[in-house]
Amino acid sequence: MTTAQTFEQRLRNRAAGIGQLLEHILANEALADEIVRPDRLLAAMRHGVLNGGKRLRPFLVVESAAVFGGSALAASRVGAALECLHCYSLVHDDLPAMDDDDLRRGQPTVHIAFDEATAILAGDALLTLAFDIIAAPETPLADRDKVALVLALSRAAGMGGMVGGQALDLAAEKHQPDEAGIITLQAMKTGALIRFACEAGAILSAASVEDRKRMRRFGEIIGRAFQIADDLLDLTADPETMGKATGKDAARGKGTLVALKGQAWAEAELSRLIEEATTLLAPYGERAATLIEAAHFVANRKN
Ligand code: IPE
Ligand code: IPE
Ligand code: MG
Ligand code: MG
Ligand code: MG
Repeated sequence: MTTAQTFEQRLRNRAAGIGQLLEHILANEALADEIVRPDRLLAAMRHGVLNGGKRLRPFLVVESAAVFGGSALAASRVGAALECLHCYSLVHDDLPAMDDDDLRRGQPTVHIAFDEATAILAGDALLTLAFDIIAAPETPLADRDKVALVLALSRAAGMGGMVGGQALDLAAEKHQPDEAGIITLQAMKTGALIRFACEAGAILSAASVEDRKRMRRFGEIIGRAFQIADDLLDLTADPETMGKATGKDAARGKGTLVALKGQAWAEAELSRLIEEATTLLAPYGERAATLIEAAHFVANRKN
């Protein structure tokens, strides 16, 4: 007899599968048209990727694709690509010139375990690898869907998305933004990749324009919840549970909604966002049950 798995168990199982795929992608052997994969660079990339992590973004890609009957293999590969890009953003986020953190996922950050130059290059190579994984022949999608994914990921990751948000985040250490400014910077630095995760499931399943828009909106809502939860955890959780330093946002004067509006407001806002996400996916009925659980997880997570 099988017993129903909890959401956390499903997330962990899916993370293990994505981990295996990432292990395969980050193997020693050079691929066609690569010359060699330098040992130290590859070791740093592996350190930055194969070190735990909730793998929430790949989970969202796979579950969003499942709503529309998309290819599970294509979804896993797009999820792995997104995870490489996310890990690059963490490697660079932790650098001394940025948040200057020594601990990530319970281990020394890449620039501590290796050196700063290697961490910068490992990030660069992970960013590039993300687009390689989507475009590669092993990803079973039509070329037009691959191009749509590459375009959507480029827009989510670049100057008008994650990187732009990181720039605004650093600027906010010097000049406190107002509420609207914080919402914009968080929608970019964290929201954009989570939005892509949800939209990608619809794109790779060749879903309708309306479905794609709905999934994009769902991603925006849970992306917003995700960063509010991260900022709450920075204030309330301990480094052992989080696997990264906490209490840093206040110390560095980071512009967060938790700092501006308080913990009670943030908790109420998380409940409101869960409700909004649930209403949005109601037309999909049971097919969206796991995504709705994911919205709860994002808001109520403990690490
Ligand atoms: C942390 O992301 C960085 C933010 C965008 C706030 P996660 O909390 O998803 O980190 P991992 O991937 O599980 O380590
Ligand atoms: C990181 O935000 C966002 C990106 C890496 C793009 P934070 O700086 O709050 O993430 P943590 O708290 O270091 O994981
Ligand atoms: Mg940061
Ligand atoms: Mg940081
Ligand atoms: Mg944080």
